[in-house]
Amino acid sequence: MDVYDAILMRRSTRSFNDTAVPSESIIKLLEAGRWAPTGGNIQPWKFIVVQNPKKIGMIKMFSEGLRGTPTLIIAICTENRNWVTLLDIGMAAENISLEAVELGLGTCAIASFSEPPIKKLLEIPTEIELILLLSIGYPDRTPRLREKKSLEEISYCEKYGGKLDL
Ligand SMILES: Cc1cc2nc3c(=O)[nH]c(=O)nc-3n(C[C@H](O)[C@H](O)[C@H](O)COP(=O)(O)O)c2cc1C
Repeated sequence: MDVYDAILMRRSTRSFNDTAVPSESIIKLLEAGRWAPTGGNIQPWKFIVVQNPKKIGMIKMFSEGLRGTPTLIIAICTENRNWVTLLDIGMAAENISLEAVELGLGTCAIASFSEPPIKKLLEIPTEIELILLLSIGYPDRTPRLREKKSLEEISYCEKYGGKLDL
């Protein structure tokens, strides 16, 4: 799949069917995260693969932002939270989300969750922070396309506010 096509096809998915994601696909998702750019090549991320339906149910209980019932959650943690590692996590999450498109999977980034109970559930050590959950599964309907700002609204030429003239 063309990368640009994958970028345009990706939509946050909040409704999944109950088909499990095969292990080979999960490995590809993790590899996509592993190869993301990272400041100073620090690679601060830790990815926790959660497939146990009971655990997914518990995570849902503590995640206000998680809609639908994904068959897979990848919890992304970092060793040393600062603005660079947060950017790294964002890069890894988008790599995973785009590879998911290639694999026919839907994803949604979830930042609205209560960290302490999920840390406890997933046995995440105190010094490690949970930054983002990615809910993943096969979509059971096509998610609606969100409106995006126009290029002219968000892009400039040569200086901030400079008219986009390409
Ligand atoms: C850092 C981040 C946190 C997000 N947290 C949530 C969330 O908690 N719950 C949710 O339903 N969607 C969440 N989203 C998904 C956004 O709502 C979604 O990306 C946005 O509405 C644009 O839609 P699109 O992804 O389909 O283009 C999050 C996205 C990002 C990047």
